[in-house]
Amino acid sequence: MAVSTSAVYNFGSGPGMMPSQVLQQAQREMLNWTNSGHSVWEMPFTGSQFQAIADQAREDLRQLLQVPDHFRILFMQGGASAQFSLIPMNLLKQRGRADYVDTGHWSAKAINEARRYCSVGVAASSQEEGYRSIPDFDRWQLSPDAGYCHITSNETVNGVQYPDFPDTGTVPLVADMTSDFLSRPIDFNRFGLVYAGAQKNIGPAGLTIVIIREDLIREPMATTPSAFSYQVIDSCNGRFNTPLTYGVYLAGLVFKWLLAEGGVAAMARLNQNKSGLLYRAIDHSDFYHCGVEEGFRSTMNHCFGVVDSSLTSVFLQQAEAEGLLYLTGHPAAGGVRASVYNAMPLQGVEALIEFMDRFAVQAGSSACRQALNSGAKLR
Ligand SMILES: Cc1ncc(COP(=O)(O)O)c(C=O)c1O
Repeated sequence: MAVSTSAVYNFGSGPGMMPSQVLQQAQREMLNWTNSGHSVWEMPFTGSQFQAIADQAREDLRQLLQVPDHFRILFMQGGASAQFSLIPMNLLKQRGRADYVDTGHWSAKAINEARRYCSVGVAASSQEEGYRSIPDFDRWQLSPDAGYCHITSNETVNGVQYPDFPDTGTVPLVADMTSDFLSRPIDFNRFGLVYAGAQKNIGPAGLTIVIIREDLIREPMATTPSAFSYQVIDSCNGRFNTPLTYGVYLAGLVFKWLLAEGGVAAMARLNQNKSGLLYRAIDHSDFYHCGVEEGFRSTMNHCFGVVDSSLTSVFLQQAEAEGLLYLTGHPAAGGVRASVYNAMPLQGVEALIEFMDRFAVQAGSSACRQALNSGAKLR
């Protein structure tokens, strides 16, 4: 893939862009970590060096998100998809009941997987209206005997995000925060368990973070592999089997970077700013459109379309040639998706908006449209 500009911005939905400072530090330390004479890859996971890396990462994450002391932080593997099974296996007794809220692609996947382990009640769904918003909290049909209520805080494929969270009373609220973790503060009073795959705002794919209230850690269903039992992982302080050592190290560097940038509150302000600029550019143009209702639009994944959809593939090709990478919408949604995670600098969003404006003006004339469709390039 050849790109024509020196700056390259990765708008992919995940694995997403990493902070360049983190990549540079990892590069500097790759062969010789803090004068140890070896890399982090070669470090025994049971030794004091790796333990210090993991403990520091946990401590920094706790500080970043103000995680209360009665919540445990688990570093796991298997991605967020493994949690779709591990949550019912760890939180419910055999064939217990759980409520799920269906707001898009990822919550639907979580529901399908959970059905293998428990009886699922769909408390609310926005499927019929095309996953364009979050159902009103007062219309949710929650069952008091549910072991938990599961939500997806940000739907990566549909570009829909919870602006705030419901009070589910004594039923623990469980949230898949894979695509907006660390993008804004979390009020842990609302949650029993929060989980996230790392590949958006945390670090490389594979690492999965689970933050769970202590009283919810209990004996899992008998069929749960020990390596995926929250109880086992917690009681062994993450050393039941070999953890994803390099992933934990890189996540730790990202946490340090976030602290130096002003923490999660500063990130939330920056994300609002970047996102606001992008949606404004879409809404102020009759060339692009976004179907997600205002108030529920994701600050992470901006899903939109070119009104004349025959121009979408030219738009995507030309964006890529200018270093604006991986803007193709998820196959289930189509169109364009600009994922703007924490590490995306404001300049990346400005470059995208400048390209969108230029494309709209030049592609707006029918002569130009014909030329573009036959392979001409924008200047
Ligand atoms: C919201 C959400 N949940 C779950 C997943 C699945 O994550 P993984 O590929 O780590 O299993 C993704 C992946 O993009 C996601 O965006």
